[in-house]
Amino acid sequence: MPDQSTHPATSAPRRILVTSALPYANGAIHLGHLVEYIQTDIWVRFQRSRSHQVVYVCADDTHGTPIMLRAEKEGITPEALIDRVWHEHTRDFSGFGVSFDHYYSTHSPENRELSERIYQGLKANGLIEIRRIEQMYDPVKEMFLPDRFIKGECPKCGAQDQYGDSCESCGATYGPTDLKNPRSVVSGSAPVRKESDHHFFKLSDPRCSSFLRQWAITDNRLQPEAANKLKEWLGDAESGSDEGGLSDWDISRDAPYFGFEIPSAPGKYFYVWLDAPIGYYASLKKYCADRGLSFDEFTAPESKVEQYHFIGKDILYFHTLFWPAMLKFSGFRTPTNVFAHGFLTVDGAKMSKSRGTFITAQSYLDQKLNPEWLRYYFAAKLNGTMEDLDLNLTDFIARINSDLVGKYVNIASRSAGFITKRFNGELDAAALVDQQHPMHQAIMKAAPEIASAYEGRDTARVVREATALMDLINGYVDSEKPWEIAKQAQDNPALMPRLHQVCTQALRAFSQLTILLGPILPMTAERVAREVFGLERPLAWSDLAQPPISRVAGFSHLMTRVDREGIDALIAANRESLG
Ligand code: MSP
Ligand code: ZN
Repeated sequence: MPDQSTHPATSAPRRILVTSALPYANGAIHLGHLVEYIQTDIWVRFQRSRSHQVVYVCADDTHGTPIMLRAEKEGITPEALIDRVWHEHTRDFSGFGVSFDHYYSTHSPENRELSERIYQGLKANGLIEIRRIEQMYDPVKEMFLPDRFIKGECPKCGAQDQYGDSCESCGATYGPTDLKNPRSVVSGSAPVRKESDHHFFKLSDPRCSSFLRQWAITDNRLQPEAANKLKEWLGDAESGSDEGGLSDWDISRDAPYFGFEIPSAPGKYFYVWLDAPIGYYASLKKYCADRGLSFDEFTAPESKVEQYHFIGKDILYFHTLFWPAMLKFSGFRTPTNVFAHGFLTVDGAKMSKSRGTFITAQSYLDQKLNPEWLRYYFAAKLNGTMEDLDLNLTDFIARINSDLVGKYVNIASRSAGFITKRFNGELDAAALVDQQHPMHQAIMKAAPEIASAYEGRDTARVVREATALMDLINGYVDSEKPWEIAKQAQDNPALMPRLHQVCTQALRAFSQLTILLGPILPMTAERVAREVFGLERPLAWSDLAQPPISRVAGFSHLMTRVDREGIDALIAANRESLG
């Protein structure tokens, strides 16, 4: 079910800023990530197809300790690492048809400037406080250690080799100073406690909680599951622990750190999660500068532009508390909404390197699997909620072969040949404008339903409605039997107009289905317009009532079937032997 706040699927022009979460610059894009970028891209393409003005920005998230240490391990500078990964990520995204308007990096001058500006804004509002705290420090490596870089024995159950924040064996959560026999993952030495000054964003200030309560709860914009989380975090939950309330947020880290130094605080850096969401605006700022557009029109408090952030449910806290509060109290507009999705599992289990289900985007493309198969499958599974979704490989094969090849492409394969061979490629002009045809009417009736499903990110419903239309169109062809008419027409030329009409109706319906599925299958939609119908521009939503088609220019194989061997090879290519 779409959430209450989804915009009615009107056709009045809207201006919309859209983001996907910024992937970390120290790892490959995998199919889990792609859930998000594909979901966002489908939504963006739907809006563009409806003639709205969308700017879709993203960037690599480049700062922090893991990236610094990874570069060190590889014997290169962090700058060289993030530059290489930027090329890998953009290649992967373009391989899957993700149509960013701008893909930037958080290690950019725009991001430094905006991070400083936001920090200064919060400071001017009395929302930054410096406090001395004690943390774990690696005396050999001479650096403070994030919780994940300390291991030891669980203080509760004694399990060996547990991280500094929680025990994977008994589930206990604790602080890194509670671990027994702790050691630094970086140098192996025993960490010591050490004091240091940290900068905090005072989220506990009543101005923050009252703004967030208004933004998230009163305005009723979030998905229901997200709103419940928020209530819990704000301490408003009816049941459970009522001690909630927001804690101040530590936004600084000590050198050595790969990031931006805090103005007038030598040796102190912005924590990666402070500058990461600001990276959305940095990417937008660069995009605007390159095109002479006004950045303020998007970001000033009175902006009329809608602003949506697509994220995974694991980073809800950052996007529904920190980010809106940072914006609000530093003089920017706040997000219109945050759309969270669930996590991907493969064959019912967490993606696993040893099972070969931790599948990288690159390996999928290297195996020559069609990226639109995955776009379609994810679309069929995503319903706009935060529920997890499963890539079931057997179901994946069955579904692509039955829906996309067996139903959708089949409509064109069954009718295009007659038009090219018997009618010199010309469609029947009168049939093309027949508004009373029952198939045309069924499609026009489904279209607004499909539009509102797209708007609410319920692409599972889009796919259900579209496959119902495919069944209807194939049923029409089955009952009209153009191949029979063609045979009889050899002796009885009076039947030729009937053949012309039937095939034209099927192909008009095919062009309309292509419009409806275009956001999900952009590459196929492009080829259908250009190669099948010989059009010079892509089809848009406004073409539905009267597709601008008049002939069949050619018919190439639009999509092949998935075979089991291809999927097995993909799993084999991703299987890492342990040891
Ligand atoms: N760098 C942060 C985001 C900063 S946004 C200002 C981050 N990066 S990430 O690379 O770990 O994840 C990027 C996005 O991919 C997140 O929204 C995350 O939820 C999503 N996913 C990562 N693994 C996923 C699955 N297995 N399934 C679905 N989404 C997943 O978080
Ligand atoms: Zn334990």
